[in-house]
Amino acid sequence: MELIDRYGRVHRDLRISLTDRCSLRCTYCMPADGVPWLKSATLLSTEELVRLTRVAVGLGVREVRLTGGEPLLRPDVVDVVRELAAISTSDGPLDLSLTTNALRLPALAAPLRDAGLDRVNISLDTLQRARFIELTRRDRLADTLAGIEAARAVGFAPIKLNALIMRGVNDDEIADLVSFAVERGLQMRFIEHMPLDGGHTWRREEMVTASEILGAVATRFDLTPLGAPGSAPAEEFAIAGTTATVGVIASVTRTFCERCDRVRLTADGQFRNCLFAHEESDLRTLMREGADDARLAAAMQACVARKRPGHGIDDPSFVQPDRPMSAIGG
Ligand code: GTP
Ligand code: 5AD
Ligand code: SF4
Repeated sequence: MELIDRYGRVHRDLRISLTDRCSLRCTYCMPADGVPWLKSATLLSTEELVRLTRVAVGLGVREVRLTGGEPLLRPDVVDVVRELAAISTSDGPLDLSLTTNALRLPALAAPLRDAGLDRVNISLDTLQRARFIELTRRDRLADTLAGIEAARAVGFAPIKLNALIMRGVNDDEIADLVSFAVERGLQMRFIEHMPLDGGHTWRREEMVTASEILGAVATRFDLTPLGAPGSAPAEEFAIAGTTATVGVIASVTRTFCERCDRVRLTADGQFRNCLFAHEESDLRTLMREGADDARLAAAMQACVARKRPGHGIDDPSFVQPDRPMSAIGG
């Protein structure tokens, strides 16, 4: 029994959003205020999300990534990690990772590592304080940098830094971000902006493309492609004269949907077959109405069976999903 779709894609990677709340307000992700937060009664309890993860593992899931909002705002995040890390699969323990803005890592890096978290990816779009404030609407660059140091200090490896590049905002910092990462033994990755912002302001022609990003990196570094990526979205390049690599996540100009192995669970218990899906499978209601594990597994399989071949961003009929990235989970 697997999570397999009509195109033969087998799904082994589950991304779980732990909360839709965030301590920053990045302009590409959330409005400044008036965010329609999920009601607390709709949020999955830890017991519920662990149960759904076990069901997904029974269907072949082997990697779990915790996202948000900001996952470290969930008060019991360390307990969530401990319980998920204890789930064993027929191939050994789950690969358990987390994507964070790092603000709470000074306090949480050590307990998370002790609880069994394998890896962290950290969002860092700029190294300039004034820009950070403009971009995130919060004066927290120093806390982000302290969080990155805390992750290094407790030995998480590899640590990947994600920067979303926006024209006229941070596109002149691409090489500086690579230098920052190389000097610290971190992997820098650049992300193409996708139409998932709360304000629906995305414009294809304004998006900074992966080839522009690689051109900017090449002004300071010599890059060698590291061959075809697996199911992971990042294309990786070796940087001459260093042991570091740099990655680009070109979701729009070099889509990787044909090798997608991801499914998602939102903080309010909706199962999604794609970031851009318009339908969700309401596992929370099913579970609270008393469905057994076999029924939940069947609902997951039915959702995956309806997965479309790709996001269709370039189709004239493309419509952005109603929920923003912060509610779907990155
Ligand atoms: P690794 O396993 O460490 O490579 O993680 P990852 O790159 O999958 O995870 P991360 O949360 O760091 O994702 C980085 C960015 O990749 C996200 O913020 C998205 O912009 C993009 N991304 C992740 N998953 C998907 C996906 O399924 N589809 C698309 N189109 N983009 C994705
Ligand atoms: N397009 C691409 N990536 C996005 N992220 C948030 N919104 C978008 C978007 N519209 C990414 C951030 C962060 C991760 C959690 O999600 O860069 O690294
Ligand atoms: Fe998978 Fe959808 Fe992302 Fe494409 S856009 S890689 S199908 S989740």
